[in-house]
Amino acid sequence: MCGIIGYIGDQQALPILSAGLSNLEYRGYDSAGVALSGPELSVYKKSGEVSALQGILPESADHRQGIGHTRWSTHGPPTDANAHPHTDESGRVAVVHNGIIENYDTLREELSDVSFSSDTDTEVIPHLIAAGLDAGAEPREAIEAALDRLEGTYALVVTIAGVDELYATRQDSPLVVGHGDDGTFIASDVTAFLEHTRDVTYIEDGDFAVIDDGGLSLFRDGDQIETTIERLEYEADAAEKSGYDHYMLKEIHEQPRALRQTISGRIDVETARAAIDVDLPDEYLDSIEEIQIVACGTSNYAGQYAAELFESAADVRTTVEVASEYEFDGGRDPWRTLVVAVTQSGETADTLSAIRRAKRAGARTLAVTNTLGSTIVRETDDSVFIRAGPEIGVAATKTFASQVATLTLLAVYIGRTRGTLAYDRAEALLTSLRQLPSAIQSVLDREDEIKTVAYEYADSEAFFFIGRKLGCPVALEGALKLKEISYDHAEGFPAGELKHGPLALVTEQTPILALLTEGTKPRETLNNVKEVEARGAPVVGVTSEADGIDKSSYLDVELPIPETGELEPLVANVYWQLFAYHVADKKGRPIDRPRNLAKSVTVE
Ligand code: AGP
Repeated sequence: MCGIIGYIGDQQALPILSAGLSNLEYRGYDSAGVALSGPELSVYKKSGEVSALQGILPESADHRQGIGHTRWSTHGPPTDANAHPHTDESGRVAVVHNGIIENYDTLREELSDVSFSSDTDTEVIPHLIAAGLDAGAEPREAIEAALDRLEGTYALVVTIAGVDELYATRQDSPLVVGHGDDGTFIASDVTAFLEHTRDVTYIEDGDFAVIDDGGLSLFRDGDQIETTIERLEYEADAAEKSGYDHYMLKEIHEQPRALRQTISGRIDVETARAAIDVDLPDEYLDSIEEIQIVACGTSNYAGQYAAELFESAADVRTTVEVASEYEFDGGRDPWRTLVVAVTQSGETADTLSAIRRAKRAGARTLAVTNTLGSTIVRETDDSVFIRAGPEIGVAATKTFASQVATLTLLAVYIGRTRGTLAYDRAEALLTSLRQLPSAIQSVLDREDEIKTVAYEYADSEAFFFIGRKLGCPVALEGALKLKEISYDHAEGFPAGELKHGPLALVTEQTPILALLTEGTKPRETLNNVKEVEARGAPVVGVTSEADGIDKSSYLDVELPIPETGELEPLVANVYWQLFAYHVADKKGRPIDRPRNLAKSVTVE
């Protein structure tokens, strides 16, 4: 969703802010703007793409300080006037803001003598700050007084004409400072400035940051606190397309490497145990009665995959809930319920609010995430990193694979600790994990084949994905990927459900994409394949040879995968990712930034 970039230093701010906004495009937005700060402010704002804003920016500008923003509309349509930065009437104070100011109506009424120039909740902030400055307050005092009036969520960066400092603070919305050789950066996420520095400081809720030529000073409850600098381990090309047409395609191809990172050092082959650096004491794991997984979208499907494994390997009742629907029900002793938030970004508002609900009720919480320093990591009792590396495409691909792999490790860890998972099955699961990178590579090597299939069926009326057991979340994920980036009607079903309704939709114009691998009850699914075949629907099936069943005679297209045990459906999913990508690419869709969607969904 909205993105923030700010800079102060020795370089010209304009190109840095402009490039930073381009880097933030993946988050999803519908307008953008920049404020350059000197003795006066120069503000440029434009609805539409960052390129439209870049079209109205001056070729060069001497300013060494400024802020920029990509806006995803909440209050008011995506117009030039509603784009950030917002300023006070005199144009002295400029503010960029992520989040929602809930009491903006009341504040707007109070500021009745001010003439507002936008429909946004944000605009109250520069007016409040300006009122403080007019009353003689120092910039920091004026900003802090304005903050005292705000209710809601925010990451804010403020620049004031004639003041060589940037001010920033946050409440439930991330902000990170980058320490470069030629200046200091502040952004809503590190991708905004990754090409300049990988030395970062994450700002905590309520902390107040002052950034000047000397770098960052941090204040908590009025007192200056020490600044901790972390070095990010991202590779230099992590946030670039590296020759691929889209980030999504690059990220699909990165899966073998991402999975190697995910499992590296976490498998003890001899003892068939998983080594995860997580604070879940053995006596606690012995005592748990239930695992509740809360997540949205693709992360929810990763959770559904894992739930099957948690139940069978760790012998714990496991439920998976869409985070926005979650209510905690932890029985008599809530602490015996482990609530696991699965989230790539660590910032999804629905998942955050589910975790808060569970915590309030007294449950223990754990995050499985790709994002160090994220809000959900800070708010959960413990966290496990999936180590997939930055994912820029709005459609989650490599992070799904790394989430399932991490959750499989967790299932083995819990199962072995509780003594519910026998050595042989643990060994089989861990072997399956170790085979994943090469199995997925073998699917990637067949990209031309799946591209031909995608082109052949691209203009179909609708697409139905089916699978059973571990194949079911993969069918749902396959359909989500396709609808998200191609805008086609796609649905996923448990294969056995077809005959209970969806079969009415099946025609010669609706390809069925079926999972017929280990872990998906292929024999039973084959019966469902026969049902759709009898209605003339073309069937594309992913198969493995593990079960020895001949399926090819029922399939129009057979896509093979190597034997990989219970993780075969995860390997098969890569075919669905490539299918979705090539259907969308044939239709010329904006694959990395599908309409109406955002990478990190920070509103409920
Ligand atoms: C996946 O392709 C989607 N863009 C979306 O469903 C995503 O998985 C969901 O919003 C959850 O995000 P999170 O993993 O960052 O919490």
